[in-house]
Formats: sequence, structure tokens, C-alpha cells
Amino acid sequence: MKKNRIDIDLFSDTKTRPSQEMREHIFRAEVGDEQSDEDPTTIELCDRVAGLLGKERALFLPSGTMCNQIALAVHCGPGDEVIADETAHIINFEVGGVASTAGAMVRTIKGENGIFTAADVEGSLRHGFRHMPKSRLVVIEQTSNLGGGTIWPIRNIEEIEVLARSSGLGIHMDGARLMNAVVASQISASDYAKYTDSVWIDLSKGLGCPIGGVLAGSHEFIEKSWLWKQRLGGSMRQSGMMAAAGIFALDNNIERLEDDHKNARSFAKKLSEIKGIEINPSLVETNIVICKVVSKKISAKELVTKLSKIGIRIGALTERELRIVTHLDVNEKQIEKAVEAISKIMLTA
Ligand SMILES: Cc1ncc(COP(=O)(O)O)c(C=O)c1O
Repeated sequence: MKKNRIDIDLFSDTKTRPSQEMREHIFRAEVGDEQSDEDPTTIELCDRVAGLLGKERALFLPSGTMCNQIALAVHCGPGDEVIADETAHIINFEVGGVASTAGAMVRTIKGENGIFTAADVEGSLRHGFRHMPKSRLVVIEQTSNLGGGTIWPIRNIEEIEVLARSSGLGIHMDGARLMNAVVASQISASDYAKYTDSVWIDLSKGLGCPIGGVLAGSHEFIEKSWLWKQRLGGSMRQSGMMAAAGIFALDNNIERLEDDHKNARSFAKKLSEIKGIEINPSLVETNIVICKVVSKKISAKELVTKLSKIGIRIGALTERELRIVTHLDVNEKQIEKAVEAISKIMLTA
């Protein structure tokens, strides 16, 4: 099927392509057999991420999804229950892996823009009646993707940790966009991560790498994670080629996430001025913008189709909701062009 050529891709921050400098860094990478702990660049990346997150060790994995899957499998046994927001990636976009990989089930919380409180967790806990599943793990998605890039307040995480410790629950942080939260809030990654048992960052989103996530935790957690990495086919060979991109991203692509946040805020503000679109720009905290198409004349999906015909891609979450994600491959000018195009389509719909 022939696809339209896309010049401005705001569908996701996964659409970033490795820059020339990143490719040169990859080219020069020292490599070895990762599966036998012989790849020096992968070891360096894991040490760097463990340090960044304040954890004992880290593990390089091909994707963020595998980071989640392995963490769930290490924390949970068959029949255990995972508590997460109903919008969580682990529930909606990992093909039921909570059940098929970890054998666990989920208890959802209807949080506010993807964020819940210790009281919500308390209300979801099972209380040891023998017919019930065992509450085992709380999953925090920092930032919340379907919540619109919202940042978990550190106070919520702290309070959830207190409850978790007294209730025998573990805490896992899906940190696909943790670094966006860090840059926007000026709270360090290790401060967010210190309340968790496991946490990972994605290299292939706003950080601009082609591949990879890095999962971190205690020495024991990573030992167990290695077994799952091998079991799932996530052990690699000369993975330094990809780890080198990760090291480059840690050095060059974190602080600049603020540009993406600025672009997202400006996008949201301009959208709020378009008749037929509803958005509260003050809710935009990082690089994700979710808005509603309230006009009866056009649906979100129709708007997306019209935009794709002129080389602009954004996502429709539902018939009425749009998601726009800013990243290092879209600049201010392109943002303006995209808003102008939306405005024009809405005006003529
Ligand atoms: C919140 C969240 N978690 C996990 C993932 C999975 O990451 P990956 O695409 O690297 O598998 C994504 C990807 O979009 C995500 O947004």
C-alpha cells in the first residue's frame, strides 16, 4: 500500500531518526559479545544509567516493552495482581503481556490524567482473603503517555512507596519518558527512582536513539532480569553499536528535551485559539498534547487523514481525540506549519 510522504511527523517521539553525529558515535563503538558480558560499550551504558537512576545495576534491552515485561515477570508470579492506571502502556499496548509473560492480572485505577494517589492504591488493595489474588506490584508511568505527558508529583510517589512497603507491594516505574519529567520538573532521575524497586528509561523516544531501553534495579533484580532477557531472546551480541547511541544521547539529548516541551506548549496554545478544538494548554507539562475535536463537522480521524495528505502526521486516539508529540526531529517552524494546516482544515470543514 502506497503511503503519503510525511514531512512533519508529530505522531510520536519514537519517530526520531539518529542524527549524523549519533551515527558517527555508533560507527566508532568498541564492541564484543554482550551475552557473555564482553561488550564494553554496553557495560558503560548500563553503568551510566544505573548511576543516573541511583540503582545498583542496569540491563540493556532492545525495547521499552521488554523492560516492562521483564520487570513484571521478575516481580510477579502467576495469579498475582498488578495495580496500574487504566491508561497504562502495560495494559493497553503490550498485547496482554502482563498475563502472558508474568501470568499476572491487573487491577486498574481511574486516575486523573494517568496519575493516581496512595489512597487510590489503598482502595485497590486485596486484603488477604484466601479467594483473592495477591496484590503484588504498583506500576507508575512517568510521564503518563495517554494522560497527556503529565508528570507524577514526587509526593504521590513517596506516599505510594510508604503504603507499598507496609503492604508487601513492589513499585515499578515505566520511565519511557522519565527524562522529560526530569527536565521539566528539575527533579533528578534518581530522586524519582529512589522510591521504586525497578525503573527504566527509553532511548528510542525523545532521546533520539534507534533502539533500546535500559532497566535498572538492585543487583538481585538485575540477576533475575538477565534470565528473562535470555528467555525472551533479548540477549544480544555486538550491542555496543546501539549502546553507543545511548551514551551519545545521555550526553547530548537530555537537556534539549526542554525545546520539545516549549514546542508542545506553543502548539497547545495555538490549538486553543482554533474554533472547534478544545484544549487546556496549562495541562501540557512535557512533550505530549492531547486535544478534542468538538466540531460536529469533522472527526479527529478525518482531520488526521486530511493532514496526512499534505505530509503532516498526528495521531487520533479516538473519534474525537488527537495526540501530538513533539521531539527533536520537529522544529518551531514545522510546529507553526502544522498548526496553520489544522486551522485551515477546521475553518473549511
Ligand atoms: C509509556 C510507555 N511505556 C512503554 C513504551 C514501550 O516502549 P518501546 O516502544 O521502546 O517498546 C512506550 C512506547 O510508546 C510508552 O509510551
